[in-house]
Order: sequence, then C-alpha cells, then structure tokens
Amino acid sequence: MTSFHIAVLGGDGIGPEVVGEAVKVLRAIEGASEHRFELSEDVVGGAAIDAYGTALRKETVALARRSDAVLFGAVGGPKWDDPKAAVRPEQAILGLRAALETFANLRPARMQPALVHLSPLKPEIVQGTDVLFIRELVAGTYFAKPKKYWQDDKGVWRAVDTTAYTEPQVERTVRMAFELARGRRKKLHVADKQNVMATSRLWRDVASRVAGEFADVEFQAILTDALAMHLLYRPTAFDVVVTDNLFGDLLTDEAAALAGSMGLMPSASLGAKRNKHGGYLGLYEPIHGTAPDIAGKGIANPIAAIQSLALLLRYSLRLEREGGAVERAVDDAIELGLRTPDTARAGDKTASTTAVGDAIAEAVARELRR
Ligand code: IPM
Ligand code: MN
Repeated sequence: MTSFHIAVLGGDGIGPEVVGEAVKVLRAIEGASEHRFELSEDVVGGAAIDAYGTALRKETVALARRSDAVLFGAVGGPKWDDPKAAVRPEQAILGLRAALETFANLRPARMQPALVHLSPLKPEIVQGTDVLFIRELVAGTYFAKPKKYWQDDKGVWRAVDTTAYTEPQVERTVRMAFELARGRRKKLHVADKQNVMATSRLWRDVASRVAGEFADVEFQAILTDALAMHLLYRPTAFDVVVTDNLFGDLLTDEAAALAGSMGLMPSASLGAKRNKHGGYLGLYEPIHGTAPDIAGKGIANPIAAIQSLALLLRYSLRLEREGGAVERAVDDAIELGLRTPDTARAGDKTASTTAVGDAIAEAVARELRR
C-alpha cells in the first residue's frame, strides 16, 4: 500500500466545485486500488483574502512544499477585481509557481473528435489537433524586475515591466520540451520574437543548440505572431511548442478556444523539485479560471480539473495506469454524450457538474477493478 499526500486548493468561483469532482475521482481510485490519498485542503486567492487578508499564506506554501503534488482550482472574481489593490487573488497562483519553482507549464490542447462542433474553426481544419504547449512559468515578463507603475516628479504616470531570461532558465525549459517531444510525434517549435526582442534571440540560440542533442526531434523556430496565425489555419501541423511566459499565456488561451472549450483544458506545472515517490512536486490546474457567472450553479465543466488530476497521477505520483484510466473515462464520457452546457449543442440534454464527475469516477473504478 502506498500513501500519497496531496494539497487541495480549490480557490474561488467554480474552482472548489470542479476540484471537488477531481477529488471524487481520486476517492474512486482509492476504493479500487491499494493506493491511499491523504488530502489537505486550504483556502487560496479571494477566499484567503477574505479569511486572512492575504491571497497565499505562508502556511499554505509550507503545505504545498511538503506535499507530493498540489491540485489547484482557480482564483479571482469581481469582488477582488481592483488591479491596483496591494492584495490580489492572482498572487496565490503566481506565488505558488514561484515557491515550487515549477518552470515548465504543460498545456495540452487536444481536439476531442466528438466535440468538433464546439470549435470556431471548420471541422476539416481542426479535426486531429493535438498540440502540447510548454510555457516557461517562473521568469520573463511576469516576474522580472523592475516592474512598477509610478508617477514621476513631473507628474507623468509611467509603468515598466521587464522581460529578462538567463540561459539556464531557458535551457531547462527547452530541454523538458525536447524530452516530451521525444515521447510524442517528435516535432518541436520554439515560438519567439527574435526579430524584435533580445530575450527571444536568447531563446532561439539556446533551443537551436540543445536541438543538436536531439537529432531525432524535428526542430523549428517560428515567430510567435506567425504561430498565432498558423494555429488557426493549420493547427494539426504542430506537435510540441515551447515558448516564454507571456507568449505562452496568450497562445494557450487561443489553443484552448480553437479546441472547443476552456472547460476541457488541463495543465501541469513541473520543475526541479521531486517528491518522495520520485515524481515531480507539481502543481495541477485547469486553465479555465473561476467563471464567476456560473459559480455555484452546478453546471461548470469538471473535465479540465479531472484531466489535471490525470496529469497529477502520471507526473507526480507515477501512477500511469490510474492516469490512463482517468483519461479513458473522460474520453468515454464525452463520446457517450455526457455534456455540461458549455459543451452541449442546442437541444442536447445536459448533465450537471456532479453527474459528469459521478460517471467518470464510476468508469475509473470499473476499469481499475478489471
Ligand atoms: C493562467 C492565468 C494566470 C496567468 C493569471 C491568473 C495570473 O491567466 O494561468 O494562464 O496569467 O498566468
Ligand atoms: Mn492565462
């Protein structure tokens, strides 16, 4: 019997609802296997601001650090929306990424065959899309200093963000992307703006050098703006794309939209830290955000959170069989037409958040008992 320790941070809006369904799936695995999951819940984001006056408590960071993995929902909402406030919900996720040093953010965008109607693209263009984005997550424009917004002595408002990277920061991310490409269709693009940005020239140089060690992976550099366009015209041309923090933020929202629904896209943030099981001490979150307009209505799509759990099982707990079982159960639920409103067609019967979670949890338990 192996016991795993997971920090569960639901956050705000639909975060706790969808993470609750992922936990349900975890409990189903427990019931059908020898594995035991010890879960520690805590509040983060707006909920933590309300309760403690800070988005991310030191205790929460310590909890995350001693866990084997962190399952995260989403943070933010209209109540805490002032971008000038000193305390903001986003500080929770940014702080955890920095504290765990999860430098590589994996965001798979896969078109589910049964959901092609959801894509804004024509079926013949989008069918078969399966792209894995690797977004650098702990440096670049998000974190580099100076970063400030001030009024100078002539009274003029000024603001500055800094985009800075070091060779080691780029190299560790690019290396992980090459490794992942090796396990897929062996194609890697680095997306940059080397025609304008010095940091992009560094990215291109480092990626080109590392490419020499991965002769079996077809490597190509592409300008980020061109990639944004090609993703719409020929998304199936891409396998793995590695890019910096800000470009990755933008491109992965585009990719999620073209693959149909933000409600389906999981993510895994991995770094240099390992847990006692030899897996990554990773941070797993759906990329959809808090969706305050539908929070508490029982209609949020739990699939992105459940897919994030599948990545957690695989990358942090090294439970390949269980991770695979979750992914197959999700595919089956979609094939069988079990749809929350975001993935339903006009006239389709829709299912609630908990009904989708129940069906997936039962299917996982069935498969594991076989
Ligand atoms: C994401 C989100 C975050 C980001 C926000 C909430 C800070 O948009 O995970 O993509 O910009 O990284
Ligand atoms: Mn984003």
